Amino acid sequence: MRQEGAFLKLTPRETCDGKSLKQVKNYSSRGILIAPTDVKDIIYPWLKEAKEYDFSDIKDGIRLHLNESPYPPPDFVLDAVKKYLIQGNRYQHPDLTKRFKELAAEYNKVEPGEIFPTPGGDGAIRSVFLNLSMPGDRVVLNYPSYSMYSVYSSFRGLNQVRVPLREEGEWWKEDWEKLVTEARDARLVAIDDPNNPTGSPMIMGDEQRLRELVESTKGIVLLDEAYYEFSGYTASRLVSKYPNLMIVRTMSKAFSLASFRVGYLIANRDVVKALEKGSTPFDVALPSLIAGITALENPGYAHRIAQEISENREGLYQGLISLGVKAYRSITNFLLFKHSAELVEPLMRKGIAIRNPVKGFYRVSVGTKEQCNLFLNKLGEVLENSDTKQR
Ligand SMILES: Cc1ncc(COP(=O)(O)O)c(C=O)c1O
Repeated sequence: MRQEGAFLKLTPRETCDGKSLKQVKNYSSRGILIAPTDVKDIIYPWLKEAKEYDFSDIKDGIRLHLNESPYPPPDFVLDAVKKYLIQGNRYQHPDLTKRFKELAAEYNKVEPGEIFPTPGGDGAIRSVFLNLSMPGDRVVLNYPSYSMYSVYSSFRGLNQVRVPLREEGEWWKEDWEKLVTEARDARLVAIDDPNNPTGSPMIMGDEQRLRELVESTKGIVLLDEAYYEFSGYTASRLVSKYPNLMIVRTMSKAFSLASFRVGYLIANRDVVKALEKGSTPFDVALPSLIAGITALENPGYAHRIAQEISENREGLYQGLISLGVKAYRSITNFLLFKHSAELVEPLMRKGIAIRNPVKGFYRVSVGTKEQCNLFLNKLGEVLENSDTKQR
């Protein structure tokens, strides 16, 4: 028989499932929690219902579905990382984190105290969702937008308010009035700028608009600038002015460091201090920290990659148009296009992975020129087949 109070000695009014104590066998008549006998009593209901990040991958093919850089990390980054691997038995020295903060601050013209290093941009988003919101809070999102906002919202038990983007010719636009209105009672407003999956610009670092948004809410405005190196605009200078403005950055895209998992949040120094309490100085692994430091010491290569990708993107866009496909303009390293046929599986069979973020729309990452051309050839074949079948 189980011992009363074997777990925790507390008298909560509700269990994880929101049932009263009397309904649940895990509580004794004195309200003492007894170790749960069933795993479902341990997991909060919102966590049971939470969405997962879902994607199918490809092994021996071209990955154009995750908005990665098609170029490997530069040799000088890899050489620096290799030199540090021998120290893998040690926790990294705090000076390395300090150095990363200084470099990221210099890169963004902010203060080192305003930088919170994280495992990828996702680490920054996760940290804000988990530490700065509570189950039941409202979160306002553009729809569509980066899928992890919705994953973290459901994981945290937040009430999502989706504000649909509008198609305007070759671009997509946010519904500004509605965003500002909905922001009023929100704990969190998360906006990717540029937007994923459309590739369109949103606020573009415009102070007047940002001010309207940050002042209209009692909550947080989380501006995700994952594609900053491609878009060229930022609101980082405004973080010191508006304490509820936070900016997400990643080194996964133009810096070619996706699986190193390096990113950071730019936020008010008190927010950074608070978030640091919920993490350890070792959360960004040593090889990743070294890769991030070395890359930020020589950021020029990321700008060359961004430049090259922008040129390739133009070729990809024109190629899609030549195939008679409705494609949208983009200021990122991916393009959105529209088609009624099912394209993911047929392209996968031809060795190319793309993504289908919304029914009837496809997102393709901009690869090297060769990869873009190969994708266009294969897409042409698939479309020809699907046309023949439809006739
Ligand atoms: C808008 C946006 N934010 C954040 C991320 C997260 O990237 P990472 O966690 O690799 O830094 C992505 C990745 O695709 C993204 O598109």
